[in-house]
Amino acid sequence: MKAITDILTQIVSRAFEDCGYDPSLGTVTVSDRMDLCQFQCNGAFAGAKLYKKAPFMIAGDVAERLRGNGVFKSAEVVKPGFLNLTLSDERLLAFMREIAADPNLGVPQAEKPETVIIDYGGPNVAKPLHIGHLRSAIIGEAIKRLARATGRTVYGDIHLGDWGLQIGLVIAELKERHPDWRCFADDYAGEPVPELDVDALSEIYPFASKKSKEDAAFKAAAQAATGELQSGRPGYIAVWKEIMRVSTADLKANYGRLGVDFDLWYGESDADKYEPELMRVLTEKGLLTESEGAKVVEVATDDDKAPMPPVIIKKSDNSSIYATTDLSTIIQRQKDYNPDKIWYVVDKRQSLHFTQIFRVARKAGLVRDDCELEFLGFGTMNGSDGHAYKTRDGGVMRLSDLLDSAEAAAAEKLSSSEFTEAGRRGETARRVGVAAIKFGDLINHRSKDYVFDMDKFLSFEGKTGTYLLYSVTRINSILKKVGADENAPLAAAEVYTDAERELMLAILLAGEAYKHGFEEKAPNYICESAYMLAAAFSKFYHDNHIAGETDEARRSAWIGLCALTKRVLLKHLDILSIEPVESM
Ligand code: ARG
Repeated sequence: MKAITDILTQIVSRAFEDCGYDPSLGTVTVSDRMDLCQFQCNGAFAGAKLYKKAPFMIAGDVAERLRGNGVFKSAEVVKPGFLNLTLSDERLLAFMREIAADPNLGVPQAEKPETVIIDYGGPNVAKPLHIGHLRSAIIGEAIKRLARATGRTVYGDIHLGDWGLQIGLVIAELKERHPDWRCFADDYAGEPVPELDVDALSEIYPFASKKSKEDAAFKAAAQAATGELQSGRPGYIAVWKEIMRVSTADLKANYGRLGVDFDLWYGESDADKYEPELMRVLTEKGLLTESEGAKVVEVATDDDKAPMPPVIIKKSDNSSIYATTDLSTIIQRQKDYNPDKIWYVVDKRQSLHFTQIFRVARKAGLVRDDCELEFLGFGTMNGSDGHAYKTRDGGVMRLSDLLDSAEAAAAEKLSSSEFTEAGRRGETARRVGVAAIKFGDLINHRSKDYVFDMDKFLSFEGKTGTYLLYSVTRINSILKKVGADENAPLAAAEVYTDAERELMLAILLAGEAYKHGFEEKAPNYICESAYMLAAAFSKFYHDNHIAGETDEARRSAWIGLCALTKRVLLKHLDILSIEPVESM
């Protein structure tokens, strides 16, 4: 099913055409004055210039044409030439039935098959997941699910940072602590590496990182270890594999808790085998130049307003860096998936890096010319002081600690409400805590910074994940009370109340949110739509006494609408990767 404004645009365009005007004037948008009408079309103003005729006359012709076609209850012209449109109840109900019967529940589908790769998560192996990784995971997961809901083939790729200096630092430090380990010996012959664990890694990385800043010899050793690892020294590869084993298990557990899952667990290291091809293509196309011993590609253009430095592909010691792996990865993605779009959900401070690598990729023809490469930068999660969120002692908070505290806060909140199902409390608290964090993040446009405020996120009122989960549980309890489930049928004919009409409109407008959310790769549209739907349901629920209604037709119409509301709300939550709870 198409988004409602697309459906109406088609109808109104035809009316313009039938009246002898250009059909392209018939664009319909959602009204910004819902008290006056549901939809509007302002095409008469552009028409006025074209046909040297008052906009009021043009809109009048079109309105006349639209009346009586059964689609609109009213098609009114408001001076100087606005066309205000409101759907007839019959049509509104028919749209509800269409949505209910649609296997995609009203999510507009892609017109042609497309493959999208979403690069998100991007944690660095060896460093524990911290809250700096939260936004990429949450936003990337929602964008992935939204794209998938539109019928596209979507691959989420975690793109592990597993090939850089952070590994060299850990290797160098382990070597200093355990010089006797066989993997560090020059005559290493494949003996197993002693087992590591997450706690050990969490201690070693920050220690080594700090040390490299104070101790130049250690820093050089870490850089050398990185270089040797990248050139395949067997003992180092063996340690690297052990670090990967421990890290990946920890990452899977933490992302799992957050409801984030990746289709592809590739890392920078997997791009390594495409590097020779990258070098060959760049050389053949004459794009490589030397600069202070390094191999670089110039990407500046005459229109650049800000400085655009060349991209370093190989440093003077011949080592590869971030840009090298990102470019090699593009080659791999092109070969394996021939994608139509590659999107990167990464901190917006990396914008320059992506501008640079996209330019190199285009110049070198690493992807099809029509493949969309887009950087979806996100802002910072701040604490109440307006600075990047920190632990009490000013450190970077581990993701697992943040999740623990969110769950604890949720459990506390729930125990003060009428929450009785003790057995489910733990799981419910987990879901409520995670929902609060995710919705608190996603309700903001991804490019904006926001303040992390657990109390606010857990509130039962306002635009919060808690409110949404609570709304679903209210529908659950009413359905249970009347002995129905989410497949209860919709009413056959009549719309009885205003609140009912508003609820149907909210369901209909969800399609707009999916559409704009996908086009702008911005899950906040889905959050707004979910909230609008939940709020419309709340009004509907208060205005109509569903369980006590004695008029059978009315009662079953309302039950059917509760059921559809539940399904559509769950669709929103599913796209946002927020797990509902049965009761709370
Ligand atoms: N590991 C990187 C970091 O921590 C993020 C990776 C983003 N993705 C990419 N293709 N560069 O900054």
